Amino acid sequence: MTDTPVALVTGAARGIGFGIAQRLILDGWRVILADRDAAGVRSATDHLGPAADAAILDVRDESGIRALLAQVRQHQGRLDALINNAGISDPHCGPVESLGLEDWNRWLATNLTGAFLMCKHALPLLRKQRGAIVNIGSTRALQSEPDTEAYAASKGGLVAFTHALSVSVGPEVRVNCINPGWIDTRPASTKKAEPLRELDHQQHPAGRVGEPADIAALAAFLLGPQAGFITGQAWTVDGGMTKRMIYAD
Ligand code: NAI
Repeated sequence: MTDTPVALVTGAARGIGFGIAQRLILDGWRVILADRDAAGVRSATDHLGPAADAAILDVRDESGIRALLAQVRQHQGRLDALINNAGISDPHCGPVESLGLEDWNRWLATNLTGAFLMCKHALPLLRKQRGAIVNIGSTRALQSEPDTEAYAASKGGLVAFTHALSVSVGPEVRVNCINPGWIDTRPASTKKAEPLRELDHQQHPAGRVGEPADIAALAAFLLGPQAGFITGQAWTVDGGMTKRMIYAD
């Protein structure tokens, strides 16, 4: 068994998941990056170097999850942290009157059921290490635009799943949820070519749109020993947007 703590991050081929993997590696973790995008996760892992391992995984596939955790037990011998980040990140599902059951189930299966399946199969290893789980929710668990019911319900479910699970699996395992606001996950080249407007930044009480590193910083803290008294909570990281009162003039 390796002496280095091991984390498993789902949806880590890009965006917030990649940012979390990158931060944990800088902090000295060994990280398994799991994603259904095989080429993406391989290139992300190559970029992060020898402390990163790639796993091709669809979080809707229970047998694939079971097999991955068996491999982790065999190869790394331990699991200290699970970050359930994989998700259909587009919240727009269209008017509810025309939302097909198949589409509703697609959002729920990835964003909510995927986290349940990951936790179910990771818990035996996490319990042994007195590890921690971080679920990536959304401020859309708390507030909405029109036509986003399936996404909002999946993220609201994740907040409830977090507190329920924390009560069941403590004190061995702590479980928290981070609800990000607007996080600009576009590649650096796109950010340069198509910069956000000043208004995009200024409307945030914190003065700017978020970056994956903002979410990664809190995830790293919640997984670490200084967060030993923190479990079952949902943490909003949105530059203050959910605290701004907005009424039309
Ligand atoms: P993204 O769309 O850039 O990346 C999501 C990653 O998850 C991709 O690599 C994708 O291949 C992977 N993925 C999707 N379905 C999967 C499945 N079934 N199995 C395995 N991997 C799968 O998304 P982003 O923006 O980085 O978001 C990450 C998480 O943060 C999502 O859960 C999203 O809902 C949440 N979030 C993002 C916000 C944002 O502004 N970017 C705001 C609030 C929440």
